Amino acid sequence: MDDVTPIVAAPLDGWEGRSPDATLRAVIERGGVVTCPSLAFALSDDEHALFDASLADDRRKSIYVRPGRAGISGTTATGARRDTVAAVIDRYARSAHALIDGLFPAYDAPAHATGTSFRPRAIGDVSSGRALSWRKDDTRLHIDAFPSNPTHGERILRVFTNVHPTTMPRSWRVGEPFAAMAARFLPRTRALPPGGAWLMHRLNITKRPRSAYDHLMLQLHDLAKGDPDYQRTCPQREVDFLPGTTWICFSDQVMHAAMSGQFLFEQTYRLPLARIADVDASPLRTLERLTGRVLA
Ligand code: SIN
Ligand code: FE
Repeated sequence: MDDVTPIVAAPLDGWEGRSPDATLRAVIERGGVVTCPSLAFALSDDEHALFDASLADDRRKSIYVRPGRAGISGTTATGARRDTVAAVIDRYARSAHALIDGLFPAYDAPAHATGTSFRPRAIGDVSSGRALSWRKDDTRLHIDAFPSNPTHGERILRVFTNVHPTTMPRSWRVGEPFAAMAARFLPRTRALPPGGAWLMHRLNITKRPRSAYDHLMLQLHDLAKGDPDYQRTCPQREVDFLPGTTWICFSDQVMHAAMSGQFLFEQTYRLPLARIADVDASPLRTLERLTGRVLA
């Protein structure tokens, strides 16, 4: 089905020592998801203490570590338990780096890692009482685009592993190809007001000035999430990632929604476009083709 994101299974069963794989690289660069149903992230008995939703800070869905920043954020854990959480997240980061560096050495991924997270809460768990705005509701199909973090067209590559201790899948929906989604919503987007990007940067709303590309990507994220008819009727399919499964995709390109599940590890990379083989398939080039403008 050309009209829905392809999901391609790969029989990988170890993180280390993979050979470069141009076929899988083409799958993800063209907007597919590569899933490895036999690539588990093993946890020791001590580490099973991680299977506790209350480890996550009330206001957050993720416990995360950012390279170059000391310590972990988003957790209530203290003392030895905090050290255990930090050590496992670090071990997951190193496993993901080995995997991506083996499969796709041209990405130089470890040098472009931007964060690693553990998500101990069940999706939809609102016991913390925080009201989730529709913009942050990841059960709605979306591409990843972050208001404070302009990319200027750099790619967002993510590795996910479901580590649920029994049988609960991480259930996603994936949607239509990026170009189809973009063609549908672009007519409803608006240009940045003159000086707007500069002002948001000066006010520290953004980490660097938003490019025309970032401005469009955020609007596509919001327009898709904010359209209940689209969410219901657009081309889509459900996919269950079972415990012991690892999957890889460019989440700035794949329309995705996380519907249910608990206990996930995730590694993010920000890749310069120069690292990508099929640049023509990237969101930046796709939007430039559709708008007839240079966007970053
Ligand atoms: C997302 O990136 O939208 C959420 C992924 C997940 O938590 O499964
Ligand atoms: Fe997302």
